Amino acid sequence: AVTRHYTFNVELKNVTRLCHTRALITVNGKYPGPRLLAREGDRVLVKVVNHTPTNVTIHWHGVRQLNSGWADGPAYITQCPIQMNQTYTYNFTIIGQRGTLLWHAHISWLRSTLHGPIIILPKRNDSYPHKKPYKEVPIILGEWFNVDPEAVIAQALQTGGGPNVSDAYTINGFPGPLYNCSSPKDTYRLKVKPGKTYLLRFINAALNDELFFSIANHSLTVVAGDAVYVKPFKTDILHLTPGQTTNVLLDTKPYLPNATFLMTARPYFTGLGTFDNSTTAGVLQYEDLADPRLSKNGTQLPQIKPTLPAINATGFVSNFTRKFRSLASAKFPAKVPQRVGKRFFFTVGLGSSPCPVNGTCQGPNGTKFEAGVNNISFVLPSVAILQAHFFRQSNGIYTTDFPAQPLNPFNYTGTPPNNTFISFGTRTVILPFNTSVELVMQGTSILGAESHPLHLHGYNFYVVGLGSGNFNSSKDPATFNLIDPMERNTIGVPAGGWVAIRFLADNPGVWFMHCHLDVHTSWGLRMAWIVLDGPQPSQKLPPPPADLPQC
Ligand code: C2O
Repeated sequence: AVTRHYTFNVELKNVTRLCHTRALITVNGKYPGPRLLAREGDRVLVKVVNHTPTNVTIHWHGVRQLNSGWADGPAYITQCPIQMNQTYTYNFTIIGQRGTLLWHAHISWLRSTLHGPIIILPKRNDSYPHKKPYKEVPIILGEWFNVDPEAVIAQALQTGGGPNVSDAYTINGFPGPLYNCSSPKDTYRLKVKPGKTYLLRFINAALNDELFFSIANHSLTVVAGDAVYVKPFKTDILHLTPGQTTNVLLDTKPYLPNATFLMTARPYFTGLGTFDNSTTAGVLQYEDLADPRLSKNGTQLPQIKPTLPAINATGFVSNFTRKFRSLASAKFPAKVPQRVGKRFFFTVGLGSSPCPVNGTCQGPNGTKFEAGVNNISFVLPSVAILQAHFFRQSNGIYTTDFPAQPLNPFNYTGTPPNNTFISFGTRTVILPFNTSVELVMQGTSILGAESHPLHLHGYNFYVVGLGSGNFNSSKDPATFNLIDPMERNTIGVPAGGWVAIRFLADNPGVWFMHCHLDVHTSWGLRMAWIVLDGPQPSQKLPPPPADLPQC
């Protein structure tokens, strides 16, 4: 293992898409951002220098951060923001992970432009559990806003209504040919040779949309998700929630076809309100390097389009999610906690609160939009919880009384009760070291059933169960898969359904858990777990680094 040094200069860069030019906040002037490459076992040092007046933090989404909680990155959870002209060096080691993850800003909506791939290769003398690819290509799905997304969310929070949607989805930063005013060079082209195997590393970096993806006339073999190998399976269509990653093998045709093939992505959405049902497209283009004319003519060849599921295809999403299974082999065992130390049942969903100034709120029935866990909207504190925890100064910063069950149980997927106003607080759960946790997350239908991709920091969890309707605690646990469930860091709580996860709390620190749709995070669908130190020196959170930003 080696130490890899990166410098991330956070700086403005003019970028034009859909005939709109904006000064984007970028890392090193790149949109999407630069790739971070490491092998399993490597130490990574990323020196982040903020050259902009906007406060930033960077999160290494999915990196387990074993005993390195100060490097996790969510603002006001593990650190105060890096202010203008400040520097902070994130220092962590990749332990027991291989595949694809993503890094992204973790404050307000800066993730919109500040994101990039984390590529984790196997150890030097290790190989993939699947065919060795001829080439590896990251494919980042994202969203483009013609206006500043920071202004979009600020306005929504002020009016209490829903934010404006983005103007395009993107593939590696490009909207593609199906949008108005998208120039031909604003199309992502994946140039391939016949008869080869490509490893495509998919990342959904969109702010607010789960996405379907497909390539015309090509099937894909899924081999990993969230930097965990899975039992390979074939599919024509992928589904990724924001924050999820999927590695797939693409076998190209053995001959040079007389066509090019579109790859497209568009959203999965079941909620109420406005959404963008547009489609981003890129091109899979075959090249014969021996005859360059063939690649040049590529653009004139007929283009074949793939078919994607309907926008509200919940059935497809559930089936697809269930196909992910851990390898559970001798080399890659599934360490599913077989016994449960502590059980939690959390509802996740939208809600509302009374309008502070009557008649001015644009939420449901003149109320303000909120979202919560157990109907509590999490309020970000003014200093980082991890610092307050480490220095034993929780007073006035956070409380440790987050309820293990909803305060007022109701029929979650039926007609909601009349008073569903949300409450507020910076409430956390304390977990003793090595607690084995089972958490059932139940979607609610208070404002319509909608899927919520829940992401847990600092851990991978096992997805032991998934179902529709209300969770039944006397029947459903009997169906749990404790043998080879998928291990991941982000899972969609199904629209009008539930998901059950298990994890062992072996990583001391403060760990954020939230919906990875940024609009729901902003409305309060977030909470934090505090995992206490264990008895051994190696089980304790080290003191904060000297350059940790202060609030
Ligand atoms: Cu990818 Cu807390 O985020």
